[in-house]
Amino acid sequence: MGDAMATGVRADVQDLQMMIGGKWQSGARKATLPVYDPSTEEIIAHVPDAGAEDVDRAVSAARACFETWSQTTAQERGRVLFRIAETVRREMPRLAEIESRNSGKPIVEAEFDINDVATCFEYYGGLATKVMGHVNPVPDNALSLSLKEPVGVAGQIIPWNYPLLMAAWKLAPALAAGCTCVLKPAEQTPLTVLELAKHFDQAGLPAGAVNIVTGYGETAGASLVAHPDVDKIAFTGSAAVGKIILKAAAENIKRVTLELGGKSPNIFFADADFEASIDGALFGVFINQGEVCSAGSRILVERKIYSKFVEAMAAKAKTIKLGPPLERETKMGPLVSKEQYDRVLAYQEIGKKEAKVAAGGGKSKAFHKGFFVEPTVFYDVDNSARIAREEIFGPVATVIPFEDEKDALRIANDTPYGLAAAVWSRDIFRAMRMVKALRAGIVWVNHMQPTYVEAPWGGYKQSGFGRELGPWGIDEYLEIKQVHFNLNEQPIGWY
Ligand code: NAI
Ligand code: MG
Repeated sequence: MGDAMATGVRADVQDLQMMIGGKWQSGARKATLPVYDPSTEEIIAHVPDAGAEDVDRAVSAARACFETWSQTTAQERGRVLFRIAETVRREMPRLAEIESRNSGKPIVEAEFDINDVATCFEYYGGLATKVMGHVNPVPDNALSLSLKEPVGVAGQIIPWNYPLLMAAWKLAPALAAGCTCVLKPAEQTPLTVLELAKHFDQAGLPAGAVNIVTGYGETAGASLVAHPDVDKIAFTGSAAVGKIILKAAAENIKRVTLELGGKSPNIFFADADFEASIDGALFGVFINQGEVCSAGSRILVERKIYSKFVEAMAAKAKTIKLGPPLERETKMGPLVSKEQYDRVLAYQEIGKKEAKVAAGGGKSKAFHKGFFVEPTVFYDVDNSARIAREEIFGPVATVIPFEDEKDALRIANDTPYGLAAAVWSRDIFRAMRMVKALRAGIVWVNHMQPTYVEAPWGGYKQSGFGRELGPWGIDEYLEIKQVHFNLNEQPIGWY
């Protein structure tokens, strides 16, 4: 906290309203929901607890704005996104502090996230003018075109682990494409996107282009998914809610993209650099308190180095510095909420029955308040155990031994999920064989977690479908229209 003071930053967190049609509104029912600081368990703000009426107003505002926003030039939309990016960079200290306090993530990580938010708006600001159609080579005297047009009104439902970054991943490509948005932040972490919304008007974003509806998933979220005038839903969150959304979206055939997390394998062969491997195993599973959709939560280790690996990993896990999120030395903050804390503690208990504990295994004893959990390493885990199959979304690693390449692949792919995987080896031929055989949307070799706005992000199998980021991310907000110009002046001559 000293550092935040030293730089003069001490974000005043306030009660906020939600943003509908360019106006701050409190919601038809006037109900609010509390927002917590998970390191103190104190309420730091309230935001509206939106209901179906509010969602309906937000969708109407987005629909009305779509008429004009979709007709702006790509250059104009790009410039608005660049101005949003500038705002994010200027407001970075404040946004990072609020993100850190509200989500529990270490301030240094929050700063990385906010920087990525700005980069995301810059990237899509640039990409807006690079959306191109095609001329189709049809075998006739005709000019056949494929045009790309915005999908319409996008409903965007996001999680609490990277609050403003997940908002950016959804808002930036949608706006660049010419769509308008109704975004529902997670009920746990609504603050930073509302903070950013304070600057939308000044950035030149028209009223109604981005509407932010705060509320619970089962009410506000479900109303958004059910709304007949929403053309597309983009969702990041649990597989359970992903299934609910997919069913509900069938009603008016909404386009849907889903990013549903996973149980990603991080695979270590004996020929990999040992120190780098231990570091990579810890980074892969413990960054952001393990609240990461692509967390390398199944650590597969070649039998030859298995004992030494478990020992070294556990020893280093015990040195991870837990602390208040705003302290710069903190490497792990509290979990985001009481709900997530209870969930992770329950999995730790399950793990103690299913496997052996090398490090951690419970709540942190160093804190009287806050949702702090010990970085936990389970070993001798069978891949059929619940802790190896179910997404825990906390600092809980499961280490699983394997015999050879074939065995590693069998275990790695034996999961309903397929978001990410990583392979550590100095043998380029083996690494390439693994890359090809792993059923996952993202595969890292000799690293885990680096994520770039230029590269595609999304899952195989039950980790969802659709891709965010890069040109793929904007395509999810575009329809393709086939246009045929007949160049023959004669009648068709069929009848
Ligand atoms: P969740 O999936 O319930 O919440 C994510 C978002 O969906 C939130 O904005 C929430 O309000 C909304 N939502 C919830 N129910 C909804 C519904 N019926 N209709 C529309 N929107 C709805 O995730 P939760 O409960 O916060 O966490 C539970 C588990 O989900 C975690 O332990 C983790 O395993 C997984 N999760 C995965 C994430 C990922 O990045 N893939 C992110 C957050 C959670
Ligand atoms: Mg939930």
